Amino acid sequence: MIIPIEEKRLCECLSVIHAAYEPIAAQFGMTDKNTPHRGHASLPLDVLQKQFQSGRSMYGYFVHDAIVGFISYTKNKDFLKINDVVVLPEYQHNGFGSALLDYVKEQASILDVIKITLGMIDDNKVLKEWYIKHGFYQVGAVQYDGAPFLAGYMEWNKGISVRHSTVDDAEAILKIYTPFITDTSISFETETPTLENFEKRVERLLSEYPYLVCEKDGVVVGYAYASRHRERSAYKYSADVSVYISPAFHRKGIGRILYMRLIDLLKSQGVYTAYAGVTQPNDVSIGFHKALGFSEVGTYHNVGYKHGKWHDVTWLERPLRKYDKPEAK
Ligand SMILES: CC(C)(COP(=O)(O)OP(=O)(O)OC[C@H]1O[C@@H](n2cnc3c(N)ncnc32)[C@H](O)[C@@H]1OP(=O)(O)O)[C@@H](O)C(=O)NCCC(=O)NCCS
Repeated sequence: MIIPIEEKRLCECLSVIHAAYEPIAAQFGMTDKNTPHRGHASLPLDVLQKQFQSGRSMYGYFVHDAIVGFISYTKNKDFLKINDVVVLPEYQHNGFGSALLDYVKEQASILDVIKITLGMIDDNKVLKEWYIKHGFYQVGAVQYDGAPFLAGYMEWNKGISVRHSTVDDAEAILKIYTPFITDTSISFETETPTLENFEKRVERLLSEYPYLVCEKDGVVVGYAYASRHRERSAYKYSADVSVYISPAFHRKGIGRILYMRLIDLLKSQGVYTAYAGVTQPNDVSIGFHKALGFSEVGTYHNVGYKHGKWHDVTWLERPLRKYDKPEAK
């Protein structure tokens, strides 16, 4: 049962917070010197009390009369920021954490807020996957001075979801892609593929790399995928990436959500470098790739001829992993 916390029970909440964060603080090398309150593993009672008194919303997951889980959030103008979500280690894997997250989503709906944000340790892969399972996606990552880990930022937005595509998405993807073939040189393809051929293409790409779609209220509004950079064997640790967003949804953060997830998946798949080729001029795409950590490599001049003109392609790269000895693929 989830119940608002009374001030007199903050001490019990603090025990739950300490017990849940202690293993994480140990795993990621947090000390009182490099991370404030060791990422809450040693949060002092007076700090929690001040947070409570300042109006932070706090809820407990109660089993009988004992607090075994805790969640707190702050309401900002148009979003809720989750500050803590914790379950006692011995009560984890019982769905209590999910119930707490769902509770905050319900609160968001009651408060007429469509966005929830939170910060986490970017390398905490298990936790990240857990949030992703609950409809969150990554929107950023920051390395703070002296911190022993990268801070990752996740968001949940009502109606927005990112998932692996299936062949059934081919039609919706082709609908977004077609104007870029017919009306621009952003794609060097000159004939729009038939749906049947496009389905085969999606199926082939899916078999080797992630192919993601972003849906808004159940409608595909953008997609991003990876493909082999070049065929020869030694290139197999490098991948090309591509992203297309339906024009009505540009500049709403959807490209960023898709690329951050794509990059994460490519990293864990053993890809060392992502490359993107951008037909010139396309300042938007160059700006987008640079915002996502890509840097320019160089330009192929007059490498493509489309719509009666020669086109340059600027290549950008983004290292994904430390260049150690790769595992055999
Ligand atoms: C390029 C493209 C994928 C960007 O997608 P998007 O969802 O609009 O981008 P986002 O809203 O996620 O933007 C992320 C960041 O990219 C940069 N960016 C995006 N659009 C930009 C623009 N018009 N000008 C400058 N920077 C831009 C910004 O830094 C932005 O962060 P901010 O909004 O916090 O400032 C989209 O414009 C698109 O589909 N274009 C047509 C297809 C295309 O060119 N694909 C790339 C082929 S190489």
